[in-house]
Amino acid sequence: LLNSANSLTATALPLAGFWFREAASENAGDVDFLFNAILWICVFFFVLIVAMMVVFTARYYARPGHSAEHTAHHNNALEATWSIIPLFIVMWIFGAGYWGYMNLRTPPDSAYEVQVIGKKWNWSFVYPNGYIDANLHVPIDEPVKLVMTSDDVIHSVFIPAFRVKMDVVPGRYSKVWFTANKMAPTDDGSGGEDMGGFDLFCTEYCGQQHSSMLAKVIVHESGTFQDWLVEASNWIDKTPPAVAGERLYKERGCAACHSIDGSTKAGPTWKGIYGTEEPLVSGESVTVDENYIRESILNPNAKVRAGFKPVMPSYQGQLKEREIDAIIWYIKSLSGEQAPDAWPDLP
Ligand code: CUA
Repeated sequence: LLNSANSLTATALPLAGFWFREAASENAGDVDFLFNAILWICVFFFVLIVAMMVVFTARYYARPGHSAEHTAHHNNALEATWSIIPLFIVMWIFGAGYWGYMNLRTPPDSAYEVQVIGKKWNWSFVYPNGYIDANLHVPIDEPVKLVMTSDDVIHSVFIPAFRVKMDVVPGRYSKVWFTANKMAPTDDGSGGEDMGGFDLFCTEYCGQQHSSMLAKVIVHESGTFQDWLVEASNWIDKTPPAVAGERLYKERGCAACHSIDGSTKAGPTWKGIYGTEEPLVSGESVTVDENYIRESILNPNAKVRAGFKPVMPSYQGQLKEREIDAIIWYIKSLSGEQAPDAWPDLP
């Protein structure tokens, strides 16, 4: 609420500044224009009609000889006026909306393609070289196409600053595109940690952790995007295994369902779990070792812990061997195991 109040004082008019973030993509201007046009047309007619109702009621109701009987029954000129003018207004709104929508659905051939996979409850952004990031990185002033699908239920991508919103549906691909033309603000003024990057929300209710299905859109300055991609793609080799595991825990969706402080979310906490003997829903029990963790990542519903539901999606094909190892090292470190400082076989 405080943030809304701040942005209201900062951008009092046009009114769209109150609902929308500052526009940061090329198509955003068209969206804002149409939104404002419809808003002000509605405001104009609302004020006009209410004012006339008040004036006529006050002026003629108490007239001598007043009766409930209508005296005027038909006026062709008046009826034509109030039919034809709105018809043109509505046709214009339809046309502007139609062309805007077609533009949103038709990416240019040169667009840079990023695959988007939604799953309960995180986003994966897959770049052309196979690198997967939890955030969407894009070059400035270049058209970017998102090819999106879901691993489970319907999600929806919404990037308010770009005025882009599209459902993400299992079993099919949906597409959306934009050209970012502004860098993200480095400080959004909230005083929190969420700096650097435009907000990306899941905007289709998808279950318990829907509200934490968030990502950032990071815009890279011209000419620096490819360098970033190369650097980012090699990060894990240069990161100590348990530290890498912690990053994967935060970025690849584990954190939505597994706590590291002993509290229970949709899945068991990771704190102190390594090496323990845990009961399963089948009535048997299992020792939490490397093999069990690995199986739980790739085939999570094979051995479900007692007291939990089989809701975890499989990460088969979505985590590389080294990434699985890193997560195992992180879980071990949460039980006090000493993880190595570097990967043993770095080429
Ligand atoms: Cu995914 Cu809401």
